Amino acid sequence: MVAERRAPPRQAPGTGVRVLAARINARVVANGSSLEAAFAAFPPPPDRDLGLLRELCYGSLRWHHRLAHQVKRLLRRPWDPVDPSLAALMRIGLYQLQWMRVPDHAAVAATVGAAEAFGNMRAKGFVNAVLRRFQRERESLAARLSGVREAETSHPDWMVGRFRADWPDDWERVVEANNRPPPMWLRVNARRIARAAYLETLDAQGISARPARKLPGAVLLDRPRPMETLPGFTEGLVSVHDAGAQLAAQWLAPEPGQRVLDACAAPGGKCAHLLESCPGLGEMVALDVDRDRLAVAAGELERLGLEAELICADAASPRAWWDGRPFDRILLDAPCSSLGVIRRHPDIKVLRRPVDIAQSAAKQRRLLDALWPLLASGGRLLYVTCTTVREENGDQIRDFLAATPSARDNGAEFPQSRQILPGETNMDGFYYACIRKAG
Ligand SMILES: C[S@@+](CC[C@H](N)C(=O)[O-])C[C@H]1O[C@@H](n2cnc3c(N)ncnc32)[C@H](O)[C@@H]1O
Repeated sequence: MVAERRAPPRQAPGTGVRVLAARINARVVANGSSLEAAFAAFPPPPDRDLGLLRELCYGSLRWHHRLAHQVKRLLRRPWDPVDPSLAALMRIGLYQLQWMRVPDHAAVAATVGAAEAFGNMRAKGFVNAVLRRFQRERESLAARLSGVREAETSHPDWMVGRFRADWPDDWERVVEANNRPPPMWLRVNARRIARAAYLETLDAQGISARPARKLPGAVLLDRPRPMETLPGFTEGLVSVHDAGAQLAAQWLAPEPGQRVLDACAAPGGKCAHLLESCPGLGEMVALDVDRDRLAVAAGELERLGLEAELICADAASPRAWWDGRPFDRILLDAPCSSLGVIRRHPDIKVLRRPVDIAQSAAKQRRLLDALWPLLASGGRLLYVTCTTVREENGDQIRDFLAATPSARDNGAEFPQSRQILPGETNMDGFYYACIRKAG
């Protein structure tokens, strides 16, 4: 007898990419992995699916708190899927129905198909029921968000509390900016091409963009695109770099011949910018404690045709790596809670815990105290974070100045500081404080 061959069941288009998105989302939400690491943990999908995968992953994390609330409301019976990817899939389904232009019927078919692909028929039923119920009840569901702060803001409660306490007049704008996809800023490599010439190149290729008024190398693209497709990217003409981060070179303002330390340098964005904008720099020492990230910085410098002495070490223990020669400029782009870059890294809303703030602040203070003696008299230390939290920013610098006489008695114009809130003139959230050493 000839065995009958069964054709595999036909999958709705886009099923595979939703399965992968659910696995990545679950790795962040259930395992505490960063989104970047979660992406790297799976083989990439075909190129044609990459854009959709990113949209599903970034979007479902950006709206995670609201989506999780909606799932709870929509389930008629308690459901505790053993595999967290199935819960993720439910949120991804709801994300598509609210924020994507995929037709509803296609989104539902592909998401239900993905539940089936997990081999769990019960989950398939739950996903189907929740998505269809959402379609029927979307208006009443929207009305019921009001008053539930985590769902309304799509941020954890403690984080919104922080924003409110630190920025009582601006916290709503901060929350709104965090929930918007970020713009794409470029930094033109001044050593290789003038910004005007690069803008002409973009224009010739039909890529619309405009220059930033106050930042000499910055260009804002009208629409984000994969960085590898930027003209001259491989040749080092340009880098992707938020405008807020590009302020560091202006604030540190190194001069030709000077010795500069970039104490937390990886992946090398600000270090490269300093080298691009001051060709006659005497010496650049770029330090980072993370070997893998430092390797990325090395690759970036090579792509851009720049040179620095790279050292993998703990900046808070200079005895292990410092040769005793003072630095004229020190950039301390400190590890921080990163609440200023949530729009670029929405996983921060899921991963960050209240305790992280005090831990970051303690680490920053150790770095400030350890690096200050390495600064030459009359030299400048630029302290930078990509967060909005006062404890890590203004309060941190206030306490450091109070405890450090040579930082306190340094002339009327120092320290200078500025907090940029996310979304302000299209920038990410950064804090800058420039401190001069009495000399
Ligand atoms: C905000 S990131 C730096 C970004 C970098 N300046 C840029 O513009 O691309 C902070 C960096 O500090 C590094 N870091 C954290 N603690 C450190 C320490 N004790 N010593 C040196 N580097 C440290 C982290 O590995 C991370 O790469």
